[in-house]
Amino acid sequence: MRKKKRKLKVKKIIAALLIITILILLCLFAYNKYEQDKYRQTTEYKLIEKGYSEDDYKTLKNNLSEEELNKLLNFEYDTKILNLIRIKDFKFDNLERYLNYNETDDLEEVVYLVNMDIDKLDIPYSNKIMSLTKEQFFIKDNLERYINYSNNNSEISTTEVIKDVNSNIDYEYYTNIKDTDLSKDNLIITNKYYKLSSTYVPEDLVSLNGTSYLATRETAEHFKEMTDEAKKLGYTFKINSAYRSYATQESLYNRYLSQHGFAWAEKYSARPGHSEHQTGLAIDMVSASTNFDTFENTKEFEWMQDNAHKYGFILRYDNENQYITGYSYEPWHYRYVGVEAATKIHELGITFEEYYAYYVENGQ
Ligand code: DAL
Ligand code: ZN
Repeated sequence: MRKKKRKLKVKKIIAALLIITILILLCLFAYNKYEQDKYRQTTEYKLIEKGYSEDDYKTLKNNLSEEELNKLLNFEYDTKILNLIRIKDFKFDNLERYLNYNETDDLEEVVYLVNMDIDKLDIPYSNKIMSLTKEQFFIKDNLERYINYSNNNSEISTTEVIKDVNSNIDYEYYTNIKDTDLSKDNLIITNKYYKLSSTYVPEDLVSLNGTSYLATRETAEHFKEMTDEAKKLGYTFKINSAYRSYATQESLYNRYLSQHGFAWAEKYSARPGHSEHQTGLAIDMVSASTNFDTFENTKEFEWMQDNAHKYGFILRYDNENQYITGYSYEPWHYRYVGVEAATKIHELGITFEEYYAYYVENGQ
């Protein structure tokens, strides 16, 4: 009887153990399943499912944020992506465009060009594009013109291509004419591609140093400062011309035309509406004892070369850049642009055309 009871007890214990074991196994199984399901929800699992190896995933994780890893799930597996993300200037937001820009196999160039939005222009890739974009005064909007101009002038350097096109000389003089953007104040441009209306008169014309010549108030103030300083060194100047109305410029141009012919008039005078003298920002000046022809050889001219920019003036039509400005060398014609711009132009040794294109119009 006792033996029977004991046997029963043992059986019960075994049954209980079995049940406990089964329960533990069930729990383990469920836990495992739970963990597996949890892992399947991770970006890591999903990316590996897409085709990335565990090592690839490590690379992705080292280079991308959590948010970017998640966004990567919208892209098909592509080994290119693994190479792209290692490039210094890689931007995740441009990924799709990098992948679509198949113009070159060099991914560094792909990142560089797409970051500059070159892929948005309908221009095929070439080595020339790369060298143009690296130029100091490269303007993206001019790219197509640079390429056309360069193709038509194969002998000139990329630096010259940029300089010429930024100055618009890929167009014939007096073609593609735009209205002068008057909002640029002291930096307004008038040349053979920009014109003022026939009714334009600057608002604040005042006398230059008490003479009958007129210029804008700011120009006159800076001119006085400059000539006062020069006087201390014994240098005196006389003014030959300053503000000219549209009508005055018209009669001047027509006089040159009838006296000297078309080519001469074009080299020495702006057509009406195209003269800086109409802006009130230009002054023709020579030293007291000289005239237009001899001023260039004076100490006063030398002083102007070294100092005019400190007062906001630039020599507007220099000798080297006659093909850019479209005018003969004029050692006497000074243009007020303000001290900051004049200093920059002086330091860079560029024309106002180049300065305007890059720093004013293009807003660099
Ligand atoms: N002589 C300069 C170019 C003018 O006529 O404005
Ligand atoms: Zn002048």
